[in-house]
Amino acid sequence: QYVFADFGGSVSLSWLGDSKGVILVLTTFKIPLVLVSFTKSNLYRSEDYGKTFTDITKLINHTFIRTEFGMAIGPENSGKVILTGDVPVPGGRRGGKIFRSSDYAKNFVPTDLPFQPQTQVMYHPQNSDHLLALSTENSLWVSRNFGEKWDEVHKAVCLAKWGPDTTIFFTTYLNDSCKMDLGFLELKKTKDFGKSFKTIGNRIYSFGLGGRFLFASVVTEKGNTRRIHVSSDQGDTWNMAQLPSVGQEQFFSILAANEDMVFMHVDDPGDTGCGTVYTSDDRGLIYSKSLERHLYTGVGSETDFTNVTSLRGVFITSVLSKDRAIQSVITFDRGGKWQPLRTPVDAPCNATKDAAEVCVSASPRAVYGISLHQNVPMLPLSEPNAVGLVIAHGSVGDAIFTATPDVYISDDGGYTWARMLKGPHHYAILDSGGILVAIEHSPEPINVLKFSTDEGQCWHKYTFSKEPIYFTGLASEPGARSMNVSLWGYRDSFLSRTWVSYTIDFTPLLSSNCEKDDYTVWLAHSSQPGNHTDGCVLGFKEQYLRLRKSSVCQNGRDYLVVKQPSVCPCTLEDYLCDFGYFRRENQSWCEEQPELQAHDLEFCLNGRQELLTTRG
Ligand SMILES: *[C@@H]1O[C@H](CO)[C@@H](O)[C@H](O)[C@H]1NC(C)=O
Ligand SMILES: *[C@@H]1O[C@H](CO)[C@@H](O)[C@H](O)[C@H]1NC(C)=O
Ligand SMILES: *[C@@H]1O[C@H](CO)[C@@H](O)[C@H](O)[C@H]1NC(C)=O
Ligand SMILES: *[C@@H]1O[C@H](CO)[C@@H](O)[C@H](O)[C@H]1NC(C)=O
Ligand SMILES: *[C@@H]1O[C@H](CO)[C@@H](O)[C@H](O)[C@H]1NC(C)=O
Repeated sequence: QYVFADFGGSVSLSWLGDSKGVILVLTTFKIPLVLVSFTKSNLYRSEDYGKTFTDITKLINHTFIRTEFGMAIGPENSGKVILTGDVPVPGGRRGGKIFRSSDYAKNFVPTDLPFQPQTQVMYHPQNSDHLLALSTENSLWVSRNFGEKWDEVHKAVCLAKWGPDTTIFFTTYLNDSCKMDLGFLELKKTKDFGKSFKTIGNRIYSFGLGGRFLFASVVTEKGNTRRIHVSSDQGDTWNMAQLPSVGQEQFFSILAANEDMVFMHVDDPGDTGCGTVYTSDDRGLIYSKSLERHLYTGVGSETDFTNVTSLRGVFITSVLSKDRAIQSVITFDRGGKWQPLRTPVDAPCNATKDAAEVCVSASPRAVYGISLHQNVPMLPLSEPNAVGLVIAHGSVGDAIFTATPDVYISDDGGYTWARMLKGPHHYAILDSGGILVAIEHSPEPINVLKFSTDEGQCWHKYTFSKEPIYFTGLASEPGARSMNVSLWGYRDSFLSRTWVSYTIDFTPLLSSNCEKDDYTVWLAHSSQPGNHTDGCVLGFKEQYLRLRKSSVCQNGRDYLVVKQPSVCPCTLEDYLCDFGYFRRENQSWCEEQPELQAHDLEFCLNGRQELLTTRG
């Protein structure tokens, strides 16, 4: 247990680097008074996965830190942190001051900025010395020495992003403001930190990067619709993506992208909350319709679209059925074919009485939804090193709109599901899937942590404190390799609130390291054992070594996923439909899109109009 001698207010927590066990905690407290406001922030640092903390507020000279900017943590294991101070400057303007650390927050250097930041600084994803920031006056600033010296790159900037190497992409307005000129912005790039510029697009509404592609939504000559243009050479040449154009009130959204493909959501006309998901070819140019009635909860907000990172080719999302019920669908072949989630089965558990209670099966009924809209405390969770595991909230049957969601688990990447815990929970994966922990999401104070060593079949309870706390969140080191988990919360007493954290180390429970016999061979995507095409997806099969459910041992921090791929023949389902064709739900053949029938499909490639021949 660690008790923070603090006022309360808000708390934010960040991990610094992998396997270092360093956590930074920032508490901020603000009472607005008539002319001035009373503000206070405290900074704490832990080196032992949250077991103990040191108050290091004096390192930032007791400066109030801007809560909305939080802590800007550098990429990878750079050990870099930037805190943005909120300091009053004579004359009423708020001063730009940052505190920089490049040694895992052991020391901080205060630096005055020549501008007022409007957003948090943006690190270059590969080089943490390179920083970008937008000022409140819409100027773009760059630093090449981790924020010590800043240079102005350009004025009148709306949106800026790091590209590959030293490339910076940004949009600028010409006349008035970002808002007034929306749709008439220029897209520019610089490769030399602002010495020279190249305008790479006009009539720009917005832009985005995904995988190796640069996307721009461009207002058409008619002025009332937008289209997506794609570049795979950082804006030197563009092609128009074969995606429908959208009207003023509609939008595009890149759901997921990597080097090979893009999942793009195109909003339907009218305020339906739905759209269509398209998947691209490896040029990002030709799209085929992947999923209709895809639910998108709102412009700029989260969608249900989840990449199940523990198994290749698996994605889960939600659709709105014709009777406006939310339903979850899953694809196992990168969007080639989607199907409803299978109804959960019984979770076998023959352990203690306590645990039996949470292993009750869900009634096998028609609709099963993993629904993230009903205030569920956590998104679906999967980790690349916890092979096959997916944890998510869901509701079964017609009660989907009213029932409180339960927590479900799949151990085969989403093919089969079992109810794991009743009611909403916070959950985390530890030791590469060797341990799962969960805490009930409840408005009442709690003092019990649940954990499982057999991939969620049986759950054990651990009382971490006599005195219950108002629980606010779980924190475990990113990467799911840790054996330590911290839970956070507070206790209220008369006129004051105390923050407290509990860190639980599972090492004594799993005292032995896993041996060869603790692992078993598992074929991913296996649905028809014995069949020679079993497990064949997109041209190959993958065999994994997985921890047996019955093994109670430690994978350890150095655990590597052992995977053996082998080539296998492709089937119809491994292919995308050609442009102008789509697959209906549950169907593997490609059907011509009615709205494109008997139309010449013109296609602009490298500036030349070409007639697209498409064969389904
Ligand atoms: C710390 O803050 C005080 C008062 O605001 C100021 O006088 C002093 O120069 C600051 N020291 C540093 C190192 O920033
Ligand atoms: C910006 O100014 C130019 C020239 O004054 C004008 O032609 C153009 O319509 C203006 N653009 C917008 C978006 O107002
Ligand atoms: C999904 O996640 C996996 C594992 O992290 C990654 O390799 C893959 O590129 C992702 N796919 C997409 C389309 O983002
Ligand atoms: C758990 O925390 C302790 C320090 O309190 C650390 O020594 C140990 O390496 C951590 N274990 C793992 C697997 O993260
Ligand atoms: C797809 O298949 C599932 C299960 O076989 C079925 O419940 C569902 O109604 C089918 N969907 C359509 C559109 O036929």
